[in-house]
Amino acid sequence: PKSYPVDLIKKDWSLRKLYFHSPTKTMPDAIHDMEVLEDDVWLITNPKCGTTWMQELLWLLMNDCNFEAALSKDLELRSPFLEFEFLLSRDVEKALKIVEELPSPRVIKSHLPLALLPAQLWQKKAKVIYVFRDPKDAWISGYYHGLTVGLRHGTTMEQYMEELLEKETDKENPVLHAIEFYQLRNEPWVYYTSFNQMKQNLRGVIDDLCKFLNKTVTEQQMERLLKHLSFEEMKKNPTTNHLWEYARIRMPNKGKVVYNFTRSGKVGGYKEELSPELIAKADRHIDEILQENQVTLDQLL
Ligand code: A3P
Repeated sequence: PKSYPVDLIKKDWSLRKLYFHSPTKTMPDAIHDMEVLEDDVWLITNPKCGTTWMQELLWLLMNDCNFEAALSKDLELRSPFLEFEFLLSRDVEKALKIVEELPSPRVIKSHLPLALLPAQLWQKKAKVIYVFRDPKDAWISGYYHGLTVGLRHGTTMEQYMEELLEKETDKENPVLHAIEFYQLRNEPWVYYTSFNQMKQNLRGVIDDLCKFLNKTVTEQQMERLLKHLSFEEMKKNPTTNHLWEYARIRMPNKGKVVYNFTRSGKVGGYKEELSPELIAKADRHIDEILQENQVTLDQLL
């Protein structure tokens, strides 16, 4: 859609139920109606697609590459995850207040699909950044994330994948989530990229983002950005390793295996984790949606 997707936004209760874990009306309506500011930066992704990596980059670009400030406060507090507080406390007012009280320019993270994002995004044309990752890698990453926060304890990777591919509906297919933004990629207010592109050429992505966000960085700042955002540095950075979030959600008796949030950071790491049969099954799951929409995985990547 090139304009406000009224059809998408029709009261779609199944989508609401999926993303808010119950058929709630209040939070989706509040997000739909919330005020968007023209200088906002919205980062939209599926979970485990390199969100944190991009989020730290965006926050730095929007804050004059203030590395000291970045290193002194958890990323989750500098750049909130829109639906997180509601998912924990079911408190709409509290959840929205976090975003409303954020100083501008706000960098807001969300995993919501296009249809559940604020209607004003289409009017204010705030900047939207989308990061896609091969769902097979994102699913694997999600397995380890789950183990660390105490979910899925005792479930093998194989069981997890079988269950996921069995249960997941078309609506929550990560490819569908991405295609909606891919189709908007030429809009001047949308920047679409992928984990692969960030891995291949982070400097190029930063250059593109500077143009997109109307920012400039000196060569010195660029070099510091590349170092700060490297896998090795991020692995040891306490403000980007979700420690704040883990402290809120981790189930103390269950999180027996703890993986660093910045875990392996690979493209195609799924090949080391899944059998050829499971990879083929996962590909079929993805291909169905790709074919329906006449898009290839290579295009999305
Ligand atoms: P893996 O679990 O495959 O290692 P999100 O922030 O969306 O939850 O994504 C988390 C994934 O991004 C993790 O993937 C994590 O390791 C990876 N990641 C985070 N920072 C990275 C970096 N600087 N370089 C490469 N990958 C990074």
